[in-house]
Amino acid sequence: MPKRVRTAVFPVAGLGTRFLPATKAMPKEMLTVVDRPLIQYAVDEAREAGIEHFVFVTGRNKGVIEDHFDRQYELEHTLEIRGKSQALRELQKDLPSAGQSSFTRQQEPLGLGHAVWCARELVGDQPFALLLPDMVFKARPGVLKQMMQAYEETGGNIVGVEEVDPKDVSSYGIVARGAGPDHGFRITGMVEKPKPADAPSNLFISGRYILQPEIFNLLSEQTRGAGNEIQLTDAMQVLIKSQDFTGVKYEGKVFDCGSKLGFLTANVVFALDRPDLADAFRNEMVKLGLFERERDREPA
Ligand code: UTP
Repeated sequence: MPKRVRTAVFPVAGLGTRFLPATKAMPKEMLTVVDRPLIQYAVDEAREAGIEHFVFVTGRNKGVIEDHFDRQYELEHTLEIRGKSQALRELQKDLPSAGQSSFTRQQEPLGLGHAVWCARELVGDQPFALLLPDMVFKARPGVLKQMMQAYEETGGNIVGVEEVDPKDVSSYGIVARGAGPDHGFRITGMVEKPKPADAPSNLFISGRYILQPEIFNLLSEQTRGAGNEIQLTDAMQVLIKSQDFTGVKYEGKVFDCGSKLGFLTANVVFALDRPDLADAFRNEMVKLGLFERERDREPA
């Protein structure tokens, strides 16, 4: 049996430059899809997968993330005296239990690989999950849970992947696919942002990982890669020479909420999936001439 994965790391120290000016004073991870911050989706996904320790790698202006995962006594009291017990229950349900969260600072945003390395003392010598909170998924069960199922069979390192249009591979980290089914195949190589002609597949790494602690030794070399940042993929490319990497082409779809297009699309898709909002939202869109009326739609 592989060692259980109890800890998840959430790197939230990036600058979010693609979302300025929204991210000038507010962390990108607090942008909302409908009414939940991006970071809450990632924490919910980790809890569903059985994670018990939540490690946040924060930076400047990120104190609000710490507050989001804390009790807010005044608000709770006000909700209570106003009889808003449903809203109160929802708030309490979203919180990790006392003592389950840890926070550390990445003092400079030197890249994702560096942010992960900053979690090394809190993670220790054990496998851990890594979730990039700006990648939000529509998936059931959640993507990390699907990856945990593969991990229980294979151990080692697990990477969640999804298909991308072959002409767009040069925006992503792409894996080379070896033998095995979609829910757990061998990864034989990885390449960051390849030209379409050089890409070994159209399967891209979409922001969910289970990693062995040896990755920290490689990251501690602090070698700068693309964009002069310390890149996680560079360290994984070295680790794959000595450890197994398994790809999981999960059931579901990712929305890159660090980009405006992905974020706007996610808001529409998630709103249309909300029983309390979907009909009213669709009607508004029909009134604006942006959606067809249901009865005008061609049968699929
Ligand atoms: P991105 O690659 O989206 O970078 O990071 P970014 O800096 O946040 O955004 P842009 O590209 O400038 O718009 C993916 C995840 O890694 C974290 C981010 O907070 C995000 O959750 N990250 C990135 C760090 O924690 N530290 C870094 O130095 C870089």
